[in-house]
Amino acid sequence: MNASGAKIAITGCGSFTPTQVITNDDLGRLVDTSDEWIRTRTGISHRHLASPDTSLSDISAQAAQEAIAMAGLTPKDIDLIILATSTPDDLFGSAAKVQQLLGAYNAVAFDLTAACSGFVFALITAAQFIRTGVYQRVVVIGADILSRWIDWSDRNTCVLFGDGAGAVVCQANLHEDRLLGFDMYSDGRQHHSLNLSYGGQEKTLKDEITISQGTYHPITMNGREVYRFAVAKVPEVIERALFHANISRDDIDWLILHQANQRIMCAVAQRLKIPSEKVIANLEEYGNTSAASIPIALDEAVRDGKIKTGDVIASSGFGAGLTWGAVIFRWGI
Ligand code: UT7
Repeated sequence: MNASGAKIAITGCGSFTPTQVITNDDLGRLVDTSDEWIRTRTGISHRHLASPDTSLSDISAQAAQEAIAMAGLTPKDIDLIILATSTPDDLFGSAAKVQQLLGAYNAVAFDLTAACSGFVFALITAAQFIRTGVYQRVVVIGADILSRWIDWSDRNTCVLFGDGAGAVVCQANLHEDRLLGFDMYSDGRQHHSLNLSYGGQEKTLKDEITISQGTYHPITMNGREVYRFAVAKVPEVIERALFHANISRDDIDWLILHQANQRIMCAVAQRLKIPSEKVIANLEEYGNTSAASIPIALDEAVRDGKIKTGDVIASSGFGAGLTWGAVIFRWGI
């Protein structure tokens, strides 16, 4: 699934995480849980949470700004902004607000919703615009503030999630095609496993005309079902993306999975026979930041000097929908 067309490189990354931090012990004072349970079952010890005056658009713009600077570009060079989020400031979309905050007035901007697969789906979407020659410089952002949609009295979910934003710049590249392969799936039959659903009450406007009015309700998740799905489907979709990229699992330098659970990451790496030293994980510090988790992990590893130009990265996002996807790329130009 690596169609011919313009060559692509991922040339910059950036991220932003809020400064407020909540620990496992803090959560132990809110619900019936413990540091020991959370660490052993998930690998998480902290999460960063957005303050009331922080907007999704703000944190997205901060991450994008860093990515644009690393790519050696200015916001006015950007043609397209895709914001992957399930928690926009505005249901009509937040991407255009991010465009305004960046001053990226030559770009068109839109939101894309695919929950924790959002960043991978957005990156693949961006690639199609570059391949076809329509756009040359695209910013892809994954950002979520799930703390606003969590039931903080539900121990099944409140221990898992954190807030943050990450971004990359994808560019048409003259030299070499660095986006090597991808694959993506959805299965609505398992939609019930993970939801942040609208729920309303009937309101009668006039005789025989009734509508619903309400709001979105906190996240519900069947953790075991989602766990089983992830461990089965993620290795499979990475194998397929590797097949499209025409490379083998031994060629992978780094595995960056959606940061949902340390046990999922270990099980996937084991199935793919990828040694644990190649698995990039920052879940302990941030928890599950949904669409932001992959670009935050990528950004940290690039800035730490772990990921070097030319390294092959296999990345996979998975989550509500259910949705899942993988992308294989070489970092940098
Ligand atoms: O980003 C979207 C993708 N999401 C995911 O990938 C999440 C996938 N699922 C998971 O990561 C895991 O299923 C969880 C971490 C959510 C749960 O771990 P688990 O090992 O599957 O636990 P469980 O749901 O099977 O629950 C085991 C026990 C239950 O008690 P009983 O019924 O055995 O008495 C739960 O009530 O653990 C209990 N439990 C807790 N205990 C202490 C559930 N949550 C907690 C908690 N603290 N926070």
